[in-house]
Amino acid sequence: MNSQNFSLSEKLVSCSYVRQGLQARRGHEQLVRVLLQQGKCPEEGWSESTVELFLNELAVMDSNNFLGNCGVGEREGRVASGLVARRHYRLIHGIGRSGDIAAVQPKAAGSSLLNKITNSVVLDVLRFTGVRSVSSCFVVPMATGMSLTLCFLTLRHRRPGARYILWPRIDQKSCFKSMLTAGFEPVVIENVLEGDELRTNLEEVERKIEELGAENFLCVHSTTSCFAPRVPDRLEELAVLCAKHDIPHIVNNAYGMQSSKCMHLIQQGARVGRIDAFVQSLDKNFMVPVGGAIIAGFDESFITEISKMYPGRASASPSLDVLITLLTLGANGYKKLLAERKELYGHLAQELSALAERHGERLLHTPHNPISLAMSLTRLQTHSAAAVTQLGSMLFTRQVSGARVVPLGVEQTVSGHTFRGFMSHTDAYPCPYLNAASAIGITRDDITLCIKRLDKCLKSLSKEAPAEKSESGSPAEDVDDQTVP
Ligand SMILES: Cc1ncc(COP(=O)(O)O)c(C=O)c1O
Repeated sequence: MNSQNFSLSEKLVSCSYVRQGLQARRGHEQLVRVLLQQGKCPEEGWSESTVELFLNELAVMDSNNFLGNCGVGEREGRVASGLVARRHYRLIHGIGRSGDIAAVQPKAAGSSLLNKITNSVVLDVLRFTGVRSVSSCFVVPMATGMSLTLCFLTLRHRRPGARYILWPRIDQKSCFKSMLTAGFEPVVIENVLEGDELRTNLEEVERKIEELGAENFLCVHSTTSCFAPRVPDRLEELAVLCAKHDIPHIVNNAYGMQSSKCMHLIQQGARVGRIDAFVQSLDKNFMVPVGGAIIAGFDESFITEISKMYPGRASASPSLDVLITLLTLGANGYKKLLAERKELYGHLAQELSALAERHGERLLHTPHNPISLAMSLTRLQTHSAAAVTQLGSMLFTRQVSGARVVPLGVEQTVSGHTFRGFMSHTDAYPCPYLNAASAIGITRDDITLCIKRLDKCLKSLSKEAPAEKSESGSPAEDVDDQTVP
């Protein structure tokens, strides 16, 4: 209500009560004012009533909610179901205009404002989580793989003669497909084994650049967050190589925003060398439904170029979900989740290590991976090779989701390219293993239950219990469903 309506209300209800109501409303408005002024994530989270008030104010600015609007276009933000309208807070027009996902829509001032504010708040979060010098970003309603594809397609215009993408191997199908879908040929760089860790082979990267010619590479496609025993790529060194050879550099930071180490790597890479864009998943970093990512970078004009590459309008749902989440958590709430995650990583490592010891196995030493851990299954393998794959099925049926069993010798062909030792990021890792991750939102109870169930499974397998049939197929077939996070 505006001040005139409050004055009118005083004719109906005691003016002191109405003034108190007005004060209360001003409290909500003050929070909205600060958000619009600063464009930053509020320090403290908002109450749900403030968030809803704000979203309703945005919605009434869109033409589909105008009183007396008559629409005669082919897209008028009409929805048949009230349930659908409410699910989207009556923000129906989506974001962007044909040709630019960042453009303002004349019919939808509220949705356009939502888009701008979300991008601004997310930029603030990228900065306070560690990439201090990031200059621009936008939320795109596609998951990580497709968002990487969009980056590659944008670079194509800058490097029309390029054919290859240089890619330190990570065994995740979306990463590989993101390059093929964009029409490029991945040049796979095998990782090197250092202790238990799989790390970027820098010599091989440089050798390939020299062999095939820097100008023939669209970019280097590196990765931060990944399953142990692979660890984040040597980003600083890769960024320096990219600057030296004038090759663009796109970083897949899928779930790295939740780790200060991954964010630090990106900040350092950009400081000492070249990073053109880095991509992170919304669901994996912000606990929202699958469907969105953030594309960010250090050169505003390149990030704008990527956003202009997106053909047509886009769903506002991922932006809406992440904005609601960040306004509700506030910067302090989000930082608290990150701190808890980090603490639970230590706890998970301890518990897995103790469990491993009890079963004659060991926690692999992968200190450079800040999220994912791996426990060997060497003894289980010598006991029975089938037991290793069986463990994956057993965990799945016992509702331990995300624990990922990696047997030896899996061969997988992805779009014509055959990977030996698939899932393990290398042709032949020395032992089979099991992954578990401490990702944002994990609880102590998750860890306690997982360890208890894992303990039971390992005990029963070592007693050679009769083979248990998987309800979901073999773990190797379910690789994507069994991945964490
Ligand atoms: C490192 C990495 N990159 C990319 C992806 C694919 O992400 P999305 O499903 O959001 O495309 C994953 C999924 O697990 C991943 O682990």
